Amino acid sequence: MPCHGPGPAPHGPRPHDRVALRLLRPADASALTRVYSGAAVRYTTGHVLTLAEARAKIRADRAAATELPPTRWAWGITLGADVIGRITVRRTVDTTASLGYILRPDTWGRGHATDAVLAVLRFATARTGLVRLEARHHPDNPASGRVLVRAGFRRVGTWRRTEGGRSVAYPLYGIHVR
Ligand SMILES: CC(C)(COP(=O)(O)OP(=O)(O)OC[C@H]1O[C@@H](n2cnc3c(N)ncnc32)[C@H](O)[C@@H]1OP(=O)(O)O)[C@@H](O)C(=O)NCCC(=O)NCCS
Repeated sequence: MPCHGPGPAPHGPRPHDRVALRLLRPADASALTRVYSGAAVRYTTGHVLTLAEARAKIRADRAAATELPPTRWAWGITLGADVIGRITVRRTVDTTASLGYILRPDTWGRGHATDAVLAVLRFATARTGLVRLEARHHPDNPASGRVLVRAGFRRVGTWRRTEGGRSVAYPLYGIHVR
């Protein structure tokens, strides 16, 4: 699923600077371990992905892609031949789904997460029957909130999770996709 339009804007990013989304393949496992590493896991899974875990994630993504009716969708975020992230949509209740994404730390700050989220919103509207997407982020990770707001999400509340014996308030966002 390419994210770029018909051609580059006169002063905009060049086509090879734009991300595309595709189903991850077994050969992407090593690249995926580099996505789930360093600062990228600080406010998400909390641990670096092993090669075995990366392979399992890719197997699960590929299995989900053949499910009927689908309950979740997952793509690798690519820049040319390079896998720089992963983005997922999981159906939660009825026509609502939860969005998640992670990008390799050395690619941050160039709008790639926003581009990937926008591409998934277009997909959700056109191809899924979903009505609403939700997303949340760790309170110490405001960059993720900026991504969501820039993609059109609105803050709708707070989702609480117990971490290390204390309750952590995750900002919760939502968007209607149809
Ligand atoms: C959150 C994450 C996806 C951002 O990726 P990215 O490609 O750098 O995002 P973008 O470049 O599209 O946008 C980043 C935005 O955050 C802003 N930002 C960056 N650091 C920030 C900070 N410390 N405080 C506030 N805003 C910040 C940027 O300025 C930019 O906003 P702007 O364009 O309006 O200025 C990436 O940091 C990541 O993978 N984090 C770990 C995983 C995660 O938290 N996922 C979200 C949970 S679903």
